[in-house]
Formats: sequence, structure tokens, C-alpha cells
Amino acid sequence: MERHNKLPVQGLRWREARRCRRSGDFMNEARPQQFVAVLDFGAQYGQLIARRVRDLHVYSEIVPCDISADELSVMKPSALILSGGPASVYAEDAPHIDPNVLALGVPVFGFCYGHQIIAATLGGVVGHTEKGEYGPARLSLNEAGSRSKIFDRTPDKQTVWMSHRDAVSSVPEGFIVTASTDVCPVAAMEDPARRLYTTQFHPEVNHTEFGSQMLSNFLFDICGLEPTWTMDNIIEQKVAEIRQKVGDGRVILALSGGVDSSVVAALVHRAIGDQLTCVFVNHGMLRKGEPEMVEQVFRKQFNVPLVHVHAEERYAKLLAGVTEPEQKRRLIGTEFWKVFFEEAQKLDGVQFLAQGTIYPDIIESGARKTGGKASTIKSHHNLIPFPEGVHFDLIEPLDHFFKDEVRELGVSLGLPENLVYRQPFPGPGLAIRIIGEVTPEKLEILRNADAIVREEIDAYNARLFKETGERNSAHSVWQYFAVLPDIKSVGVMGDERTYARPVILRAVESSDAMTADWAKLPYELLGRISSRVVGEVAGVNRVAYDITPKPPATIEWE
Ligand code: XMP
Repeated sequence: MERHNKLPVQGLRWREARRCRRSGDFMNEARPQQFVAVLDFGAQYGQLIARRVRDLHVYSEIVPCDISADELSVMKPSALILSGGPASVYAEDAPHIDPNVLALGVPVFGFCYGHQIIAATLGGVVGHTEKGEYGPARLSLNEAGSRSKIFDRTPDKQTVWMSHRDAVSSVPEGFIVTASTDVCPVAAMEDPARRLYTTQFHPEVNHTEFGSQMLSNFLFDICGLEPTWTMDNIIEQKVAEIRQKVGDGRVILALSGGVDSSVVAALVHRAIGDQLTCVFVNHGMLRKGEPEMVEQVFRKQFNVPLVHVHAEERYAKLLAGVTEPEQKRRLIGTEFWKVFFEEAQKLDGVQFLAQGTIYPDIIESGARKTGGKASTIKSHHNLIPFPEGVHFDLIEPLDHFFKDEVRELGVSLGLPENLVYRQPFPGPGLAIRIIGEVTPEKLEILRNADAIVREEIDAYNARLFKETGERNSAHSVWQYFAVLPDIKSVGVMGDERTYARPVILRAVESSDAMTADWAKLPYELLGRISSRVVGEVAGVNRVAYDITPKPPATIEWE
């Protein structure tokens, strides 16, 4: 998760727009006819389950584990999956399940804690075991197991991924044991008449050899679902939803050129055409080529009504003499929304504001159960400082998509790959990569150095992608950029002494920006970046490589 995926806006007297996702909100949302609800017991792998189901082209959503049977039946799920979780089922504050959920007649698949809670709720027994079972385990199917629909097209002996200390010691009435390991006699059980299936192991993780096959057996053979959740269908459905909501109203969108706002723009434009206006605030601290890319893609290729606000001078004045990092962020964020709302007020009759909120923003804001304590879906804050008296209805068509699904959607909508696979770029832009005061001279140096860094590492990543077929292979670089410190150093170029600026290269491997490690780039690549930056960027005589992980450092320098 990005720490600050919305622009910072502290210090404003304007009120914040807060959007609460109460249980009623998510229950009444429109969703595809076929839909799998994942009841989340605080699982480490909760999101992963929803992902795996979606990978099989069935829509899936995470809901709190203490949802009542009545609430759930309003949502009309086609199937339920009960996730794992850190608690022990008999612990005082262990999360429970409404027993009526298991009597809804909807097929259920429970993993780990989900397996145990089903056993405990329906009259079985769960106990502590002498030895926990963590990591790969050898699963053996018994006779019932080799006939089980869950294990169809999987061998009698296979590797599964375990992570538990408690185990089911006696199965509830109506259930049969289908598989075991050396340590765990009830590694899988089922009551096919009631379509209740459970495993102590985790079918959702890749280390479970046939996990995906089991999931697909459950979804397609047991629940009778169809793999219809494809990008084309998703676009069609989202377009219909947006049209219905907007009618003949007008929509405004703050377009940054980042992945999420770009995909929203393309999608909303597909739905309502010129009823959408995008406002692109150019604060002058964007990377080389970015304003041109936004113009090219949105104005020329997509024909979207685009207001390009040239606020470069306004920002230059605002930031003159400012050196403190937090103050820079604050000023930039505050000014951004001021500029945006000034433009918004020039347009007549705009009722809606489209936003690039994505699913992790929402899950992290409270859909998740942790610590076994009951929790409800809590407020989700959109830190938009609407000026007093200004109101917009929000449209957030990506609020149930994971980042890589947003990217896939972008490609299907025809956005160029270099935009869709763009690495994260902070809202305050190059300003927080220039240490000390932001000046036009420093911006020029950083922009040129950064363009070389990106060109070289883009090519390196592309080579890795070609070799491995994976966009995020083990060695691909997740984020990379140049930083300009506020110092000068001595050098010698062509017999002349120089006193010029160093550039710092930052390149990290990460999956979620919460932790990161410095990228072990080949020396040859480091050497080429260094000689190109010094040779091609005037005012630079030295390149240093930042080899600090996060923590203790952060990815950005300010
Ligand atoms: P740090 O520096 O906290 O950065 O390790 C983590 C990730 O967040 C991005 N980042 C930002 N993104 N507005 C944004 O939209 C910001 O103010 C901001 N600050 C950091 C950073 O690029 C990295 O991917």
C-alpha cells in the first residue's frame, strides 16, 4: 500500500469529504450475478483468496466474518469461502460465525480457521495439537477423498501448505474425512449433501500444488458457476452502472496521469463521453514527458475534454524559499485542490466527482477483521477538502479492483502500456526528490537525470520481463528515480576542476511499498547510468547509489 496515495491536505479550514462505508452501503451495492463472498477472519491471505477466485473469472468480494445470515442473503452470494485467521476457535475473543450462514443452502468452502470454525459451529471438536504444522505437508486422500469433487483431477498424494496448531479432532454429524497428513488426521472434510467443504490447509497459496484446481472444482463443478467475469464483461457492466448513476449529469475528474485516475478517466469517458471533463493540474514538478503524455493520450487519442491548468508559476512562487519537507508537501497538496476547485467552479452544472479509489484503500480502511475482535466496515476517508458549500457526489468505479486488475482494465480500455504499468509517483512530484529549496535550475537537472535513470531501468525491466514472462520477477525493479541533494562536490572533467551537483540513484524492490530493499542492479547497468548522467546532464559531476532498505530509510528522500 502506498502510504500517501492521496495528496496531503492538512492545514485547511475546509471540511474533509468523508465517505462512510457502513454495512448497509456494501450490502446494497450492485455486483455481478455470480459472486463469491469471502468471510474474512483476519487472514494473512484474505485478499489472496479473493484474488484467486477472480483469477478464475468469478467475481469475489471480502466481507466481515460476523456478517449475519440475513445481511448475507441480501447480497445473494453464489458461494461462500471462509478464510483462515490467527485466533483459536475456543479463545474468549475468537471471531464466530452466525450459524445460520451455514444453513443458507449456499455452498461453502472453509480454509484453516474457516475449517475449524465450521467444525466447532456444527458440533465437531477442535483441539490443540502437540506439534503445529507449518509450511509444506504431504497430503494423502483416503477413499472418500479420491471420490470427492473437491479433489477431482488431483493425485492421491500431493503437497499442500499448512499453517496451524489447532486441529479438528472430531468431525460434525454428516461430515466425512477426505484427507489427512502425518500430523493432521482431519486435513479435509466434507458434507456433500449440504455442499460444505473444508480443508485445514490453504488452497489459495501457490505452494499448495493443486490449490487452484480445488478452487476451480469448487466454483465450477460444485457451485455450477461460469467463468464470466472477464475484462470485457466488467467494462460493459461498469459502463452501464456509470450511465445509470450519472444520467445526463456532468462529471469532473482530477487527472494526474497516474494509473488509477487514468483508468477512471478512460472508463467514465467510455460510459458518458463528453459529459466528463478532466482537469489536469500541472504543478511544474512532473517528470520529463509527462504533461505531453497526458495531452497525447487523453486529448488526442481519447478525445476527452481536458482542462490543462498551467500552474507552474503559481507553484514556483508558492515554494520559493521553502525547505522543510512536510511544509512542501502541505503547500503542494493544499494548492492542488484550490486550483482544482477554482477550475471546477468555472464549469456549469457539475454534479459528480470521479475518483480513483481502489479496493485495497477500502479493505485497509476496515473491511478486515483483526485480532479476533468484531469490527464493522468503518469510514473510508477521501481526503478531498471541498470548499464550504461545495458538494459533489462521488463516483468510484474502481473501488472493488485490485491494482493489477486496474492495470488490466486500463489495457482493455486501450490505454498505452507505459502509462498503465507506470511505477508509483508521489503527488508532490519531483519537489520531494529535491532536497532543500525547489528552484527551476534544480528541477531541470533532476528531470533530465531522472529521465536517463528511467530509460535505463525501464529497458532492464523489459529484458527481465521478456526472459521470465513475469512483470514482477524476483529481480525486477519496483520503483526507481533520481534524487538531487542540496550539496555540491569537487570533480574534474576534461582537465578542468568542477564544482557541481551529485545525483543520487534510488532503485528498490518491493511489492507494496511498506518495506523495500535496494535493488541489486548489475554493475554494468550502474556504470552506464552513472556515465550517461554525468555526460549528458549539465551541472552534474557525480552519481551515488542509495543502498538503504526500508526500514530504516523510506523509499523517497523527503
Ligand atoms: P515512502 O517514502 O514513505 O514511500 O517509503 C512509499 C511509497 O509511497 C509513495 N509516496 C507518495 N505517493 N503522495 C503519493 O501519492 C505522496 O505524498 C507520497 N509520498 C510517498 C512513494 O513514491 C513510494 O512508492
